[in-house]
Formats: sequence, structure tokens, C-alpha cells
Amino acid sequence: MPDSNRTPTAQLRADGSLRHLLTLEGLPTPVVRQLLERSAHYARPLSTPAARSNALVGRTVAVMFAEPSTRTRVSFELAARRLGADVINIEVQLSSRLKGESVLDTVATLEAMYVDAFVLRDADATVPDLVASHVAEHVSVLSGGAGSQTHPTQGLLDALTVRQHKGRIEGLRIAIVGDIRHSRVARSSWQAFAALGAEEIRIVAPQGLMPGEQEFKDCKRFTSLEAGIESCDVVMMLRIQKERMTALSIPDEASYFAEWGLTTERLRAAKPDAIVMHPQPMNRGVEIASDVADGPQSVIRDQVRNGVAVRMAVLEATLSGGRR
Ligand code: CP
Repeated sequence: MPDSNRTPTAQLRADGSLRHLLTLEGLPTPVVRQLLERSAHYARPLSTPAARSNALVGRTVAVMFAEPSTRTRVSFELAARRLGADVINIEVQLSSRLKGESVLDTVATLEAMYVDAFVLRDADATVPDLVASHVAEHVSVLSGGAGSQTHPTQGLLDALTVRQHKGRIEGLRIAIVGDIRHSRVARSSWQAFAALGAEEIRIVAPQGLMPGEQEFKDCKRFTSLEAGIESCDVVMMLRIQKERMTALSIPDEASYFAEWGLTTERLRAAKPDAIVMHPQPMNRGVEIASDVADGPQSVIRDQVRNGVAVRMAVLEATLSGGRR
């Protein structure tokens, strides 16, 4: 069983190359920057063909998600295929996990079929790290989202998207708004923005959705949407994660939208050239109005497009150094 007191598995090999990507916390900033540079290399406009390479020909990637996903699962799969890897997609709900097989036995079974990398999503935030501590030396583990704690490739794609639109992250004022308490995206994106030199990162949420005081060190906290996004360069909206709440911490959706929904009028509090982000899935009319989500300041589609580029860069970086 996962042991929450275990020392986290090292993400870097002895030579400093990236072996696993489980969290952005503590990842050296030069490694984050290298991943972003490589992601930018793979990011192409939609008007041109998608980037491809043969970097991972002969390698096998298993995508094993125990929670729902559209963007992360599909983009990891596309990324691996576009690098020439074989990809298997394990539907956990149709696998022998349902007959009682442990995640470690499932992973060991797939390792025996020459799988070189596991991309994992699980409601239990300890699972990717647990698996990483048990796989063979040449095998990599990548988190595709772990409970409410980590979503490192989302943090990287958010940083890449901000950099594309603003030219930099250094010196920016960034507001992350909504259900911060339950959001792995908020944690990983904050870690990426902080590592890359954002001037001010704000977390903006109703009191019931704020994380504990020991988390999000150095962030400014706001419990009003208008005050929280005032003069910001970036406004990132988050979905309310009802699936992670033990008791509902918000009123009904209409009341939430009335106080916390990002509308065109409210967005005027941010800088006139502020960009609007959302990791999706989004609930239109709850945390964000449709005309803002689809409006001229929205870069939400770019976040999705950049997800493939970032996952190509991460798969390439982790698998290039780990030949069996
Ligand atoms: N942003 C994100 O993780 O989306 P999915 O849940 O669809 O993968």
C-alpha cells in the first residue's frame, strides 16, 4: 500500500537527466527551462502539420488513467505516437484491476511486455510516486494528474502558453481563481510560474475553497474576484472539483456564478491585454461566461494545443536517457 511517509522518488538520473516527471516541486529550474525550450520546438501553428520525429521508435508507452480525462490522455497518446513510439491505452475500469490486481502487479505485468514508460492518472496522489519507486532502472513514470496534488505537464503547458502570449513569465502578475484547495492544476502551475520568475502570484477563492496557510507559500490571497484579478496580466480560472469534496463548500451554481463567474465586465479589472486561461474541462456559466471563454482574450485553445508539444518534450527527455 502507498506509504505517505516514504521519501519521494528521485526524478533525475545520476547524470542529471530527467527520468521521471512526478511533480514540478523541487525540479531544478534549468530542467524546467529545457523542457519549455523543447516544447516550443514541437509547438506548431494549427495551420501547419503537427511536429513529428523518430526519437522514440522502438519504445513503448502505456497510458493508464484511473480517472476521467480527455486532454491529458489524448495528448500523451498523440505525443508518443508522433515521436514514433508504440502506445497502449489501459482502460483501468476494464482491466484486471477490477478483479483485485494491485497497481504494482499491473505495472509489473506490462513491464514484462517491454513497456518503457507509464503515464498514470489516479485519484490517489501517491500512486505515480509509488510506481516510480518499483519500476526497473530503464523505465520512466510520468504523472498525468495525481489526486489534488500534482499535474506537472499541465503546469508546463500553462507556462509555455503564457510565454507565447506575453513573451516572458518574469515580472508578470498572475491570478489563479476558483477551487484552489482541490486543484492539482493550481499547485503545478503555481510551481511553474514561481520557478520561472513571476513577480506576483495570487490565489483568489471563496474562503471555503482556499488551501491551508502552509500551502502556496509567497502567494497573495484574495477572497474577492474583482480585487484578486485587478491589474493582472494573466487570469486563470478553475473548475469546482465536486468529485474531491467531502462536503459541498459552495452554494448552488447560479449563486457561485453571480459572485465568482468571470464575465466580460469583471474581466475589465485585469489589465486590458490580460490573457484568460482555463485548464478545462470548464463549466460554462459557473466559473466562466461563454463569451469570455470564447472571447479575444482567451488562450484556452492554445493551452490544449501546447499540451501535445509539452508531452512530446517530456516523453523525449525521459525516454532518451533510459535505454534498457
Ligand atoms: N486539463 C486536464 O487535465 O484535462 P483532462 O482532465 O481532460 O485531461
